[in-house]
Amino acid sequence: MNKITVSAPGKLMLLGEHAVVYQRPCIVTAVNQRMKATVELLNEPIFQLNAPDVQVANYQKSLDQLGQDDIPKGARFIEVAIKNFALKSGVKVTTCSEFSSLFGFGSSSASTVCVIYALSELTGANLDQKAIFDLAYKTVLDIQGKGSGFDVAAAVFGGTLYFVTGGKVIEPLNIPSLPLIVGYSGIKADTVTLINQVLEKAKENPQTTEDIYNNIAKLVEQAKVALLNTDWTMIGQLMDQNQALLKQLGASIDKLDNMISAARKAGAYGAKLSGAGGGDCMIALAPENKTPAVKNAIIKAGKQIIEVETNVEGVKIEA
Ligand code: MEV
Repeated sequence: MNKITVSAPGKLMLLGEHAVVYQRPCIVTAVNQRMKATVELLNEPIFQLNAPDVQVANYQKSLDQLGQDDIPKGARFIEVAIKNFALKSGVKVTTCSEFSSLFGFGSSSASTVCVIYALSELTGANLDQKAIFDLAYKTVLDIQGKGSGFDVAAAVFGGTLYFVTGGKVIEPLNIPSLPLIVGYSGIKADTVTLINQVLEKAKENPQTTEDIYNNIAKLVEQAKVALLNTDWTMIGQLMDQNQALLKQLGASIDKLDNMISAARKAGAYGAKLSGAGGGDCMIALAPENKTPAVKNAIIKAGKQIIEVETNVEGVKIEA
């Protein structure tokens, strides 16, 4: 076999963002919008990439140049992933995403995981899930310098995970699909910019920030129990508390606040931003009979609803 197509899921952060960058836990779920990659080994020592979703067409480089010179933004994660895999032969990669890279669903991490998994299968390296996670997380850190790796874990393992920074704990939670509504703000946020912004604000009052992170960690522990008990009312309350703490960190913006309060007024159990903040998406947990009203309220205050199923399968072979 010298060609394979694999797919990996996008993710939604349920609770614990930002604090998870600093040795605290979070809860993340994998969503059914997937990144697909077809990976083919070549005889020539070159790397070729087509990634139309991020405007990369017929990008080509010799294997010994990987990671060097200016790499187009849309090629960075895949090129560095191949370099880190220390591939000896040439390779052609084509990616295709079911979701827009604007949503903050973790398209870069999902494509990194796809490529490492595909190479592991094609070369017979047969890396286990943790080894795939470690190599993909190293790739993300090589490029971004920062990040907890929760999105990489969601792409590899799928399901809903209790996760601690860098994969110190990756614990699958055996829960049903969540009655989650996802609202897109229409504003693109950049994770590293937001992490740095929170860091700058934290310098003004480091102890307060530590206290906020500890409070987030506490509510993540409570949410883990509530999720295992399918206690949606409790999870809703914890989401609201988490949002208040994220606001104190400076991660929210008016648009997200408006979407969140609209969802709550329309009958959601709770709502919060999901991910880095500053834009991207918010999530609301709502009883079935309130779902249409909550969706309408979010659309009015924001931009659009993204229909997702949660708790889906991790990286897998498609063909
Ligand atoms: C971004 O989606 C979530 C953050 O916690 C960053 C990370 O965990 O890598 C802000």
